[in-house]
Amino acid sequence: MDATSLVGRLADIGIALTSIRSLDRLLEHIVVQACDFASCDGGTVYIREGECLRLAVWRNAALARRSGRQAEVVREGRLLPISSRWIAGYVASEGQVLNLPDVYCLPPGSPFAFDPNFDRENDYHTRSMLCVPMNDATGDNVGALQLVNAMDRAGRVVAFPAAIEPLMRSLASQAAVAIRNAQLDEKLKAAYFDTILRLSVAAEYRDTDTSRHVRRVSLYAEAIALECGMTAEQAELVRFAAPMHDIGKLGVPDAILLKPGALTPAERQVMQEHTRIGYDILKDSDAEVIRASAEVALAHHERWDGRGYPSGLSGDAIPSLGRIVALADAFDCISSRRVYKEPKSVDESVGIIRSDSGSHFDPAGVEAFLRARGRIEAIHESLADDDGPVSPPTGGR
Ligand SMILES: [Fe+2]
Ligand SMILES: [Fe+2]
Repeated sequence: MDATSLVGRLADIGIALTSIRSLDRLLEHIVVQACDFASCDGGTVYIREGECLRLAVWRNAALARRSGRQAEVVREGRLLPISSRWIAGYVASEGQVLNLPDVYCLPPGSPFAFDPNFDRENDYHTRSMLCVPMNDATGDNVGALQLVNAMDRAGRVVAFPAAIEPLMRSLASQAAVAIRNAQLDEKLKAAYFDTILRLSVAAEYRDTDTSRHVRRVSLYAEAIALECGMTAEQAELVRFAAPMHDIGKLGVPDAILLKPGALTPAERQVMQEHTRIGYDILKDSDAEVIRASAEVALAHHERWDGRGYPSGLSGDAIPSLGRIVALADAFDCISSRRVYKEPKSVDESVGIIRSDSGSHFDPAGVEAFLRARGRIEAIHESLADDDGPVSPPTGGR
């Protein structure tokens, strides 16, 4: 490829990188594009975390070929202290490119050494290596990009040409900016999700439902959404929208919300208003996620057979987010302790959901719920309620 087309490709890669918002997908994309661009066998992306580099992802086409597979990106996570004694550590701390024709024959007096463990463990032979610092626009180091075994056209391992160094430096800094943006995005999302959870817990504070209930429902709903065929981004929207399903309970008087016994029909009607109150609080927002929350608040007590509230919608007329959160909320209510009832086992709870398919719940949603069962059980276990005192009996209304 001539120099002009290389620069053109580099620009295309840069544009593609800025359009990816998820950090995981971005790292995968960086390692694949960098290996492709440099025509080499393998690559690793290290991300800086304080005084350490996290070995985030790696990929090696030769190893994949040997086992008859497509080259996949492998997620790692090992944390390694930054020091100039190892190659990527040196590159990240000194900000210099290292272009090494043979890692087993390093220039005399090099402060860094090559770690042959990967080669030994995988029966691989690393020869040439190009390791480039990933610095963002302000020159801050975000990590390092390491490529191994450049290939000539005949498929022989050769040294990385010196001419590719400035191009890889440029690719690495575009990657650094994209990583920084994605990291900021994830931090913002985490802060946003945390705020939503805390507000939702505030709304449920007077109720039996605990903060863990809100968290579990939100994660169950995401797992079901994924099994319904939603994309990761759509499912994330479900996760963010689910916690506020009962926010309208803020508008239900204590005398009804906290009443220990059964509700009279009039009281039940007031209680059921929490769906419309929630909708009114959340509707008309410019933010997509708040609009989705409004839909969930309004629709999470509708039933597939039309016997739910507040509108008595049935079947597909119920918004899909409402149907998903209804399943997640019901499963959590059945499988958790309330002051008036013991928790049912996961098996029993799943049985109840299954038997209510087509009456209470969307049958396709129940199928998705059953496919997500492994994930749902893991969430149920990791976010189990403490067996502390439980407040008055109003949950599930
Ligand atoms: Fe509710
Ligand atoms: Fe709930």
